[in-house]
Amino acid sequence: MYDFNRIIDRQSTANIKYDMREKFFGKDDVTPMWVADMDFETPDFIRNAIVERANHPIYGYSFRQDSYYSSIIDWVKRRHNWEIEKDWIVYSPGIVPALNFSTLAFTKPGDEIIVQPPVYFPFFTAISDHNRIELRNRLLLSNEKYVIDFDDFEEKAKTASMFFLSSPHNPVGRVWTRDELKKLGDICVDNNVIIISDEIHNDLILPGYKHIPLASISEDIANITVTCIAPSKTFNIAGLATSSIIISNEELREKFEKVINSLHLSMGNLFGAVASEAGYTFGDKWVDSLMQYVGGNFDIVKSALGVTNGAIKLIPPEATYMAWLDFRSLGIDDEEIKDTLINKAQLGLSHGPIFGEEAAGFQRINLAAPKAVVANAMEKLLAAFNF
Ligand SMILES: Cc1ncc(COP(=O)(O)O)c(C=O)c1O
Repeated sequence: MYDFNRIIDRQSTANIKYDMREKFFGKDDVTPMWVADMDFETPDFIRNAIVERANHPIYGYSFRQDSYYSSIIDWVKRRHNWEIEKDWIVYSPGIVPALNFSTLAFTKPGDEIIVQPPVYFPFFTAISDHNRIELRNRLLLSNEKYVIDFDDFEEKAKTASMFFLSSPHNPVGRVWTRDELKKLGDICVDNNVIIISDEIHNDLILPGYKHIPLASISEDIANITVTCIAPSKTFNIAGLATSSIIISNEELREKFEKVINSLHLSMGNLFGAVASEAGYTFGDKWVDSLMQYVGGNFDIVKSALGVTNGAIKLIPPEATYMAWLDFRSLGIDDEEIKDTLINKAQLGLSHGPIFGEEAAGFQRINLAAPKAVVANAMEKLLAAFNF
């Protein structure tokens, strides 16, 4: 029904993934499979809504209408079985900004914030940029599955003020179970730790898995949780700088809003609001088809890596469109892996160690691309490592 096979030329559209290859990889001819946006077209119901609004010739100061909020409320109920209220929803120009607003709103210099590396690297800077202290509750890799070290988490929660959770987790691709989330949430409730639950990948769940919003688990957990969601990853509209931060606790919400308002960032983006509403209103079938297709791309990677007999492994994915590849058995260092990928395979991947030293020997490859591109990338990767 949707054409995810179409190869779209993105060059010279001022996009980071293609047009900044020279800067990030030292050459502009690598197949770019790094930055987390998709090479699939943004769905037509979003493009049409933007064009319709753009056809009105004035783009002045704007606000978000009731229909914007009800589309979010209905989507979250329909897709994630969580009932939220309009008053709980705060606009943010992005989720990385929201992580930083949270640091400013809920902590002070010298406070400790827990992260679970390997993790999306802006989690680290949302701590260090504001002179807060990072506590690393490292994920454990057990039988090719990342799990949480709860004993260590409980210890760190005793002194921490806040916790940045990635759920589903980028880059390891876990969809945390209700039990795992409840355990984390209960520890934070017992220790007065505020949780910033970054759920930006919540809609990108592979068939067979189910995302649970952390704040839907209990009233006590909701009371200490700030949930970050966005249509940006879901519908490939990251350039429109629009996300929603859901905070049911009024006191936390006021503190958060105070930071955004003091920076005068609450107006947002006219076209972002139009796109968000269209996506959340009409996007169900499209997202379901997308994740079916992405699941097929993971199968291509898995079967291609079969010839390596375990020398290069795919960590079994549960969510997101990013594959987490384990090169450790090759016994070569990160610089050599990187050099081989860029210069022999002509591929631009995300280098594992940017997600923390815990990710030495890993690389992240973005599979939100037509099958032919993914298959070709795997051929080049295998040849470059002599398989
Ligand atoms: C876990 C996570 N949080 C946040 C973002 C980016 O959020 P934004 O573009 O809304 O700042 C990404 C993008 O890759 C991500 O993976």
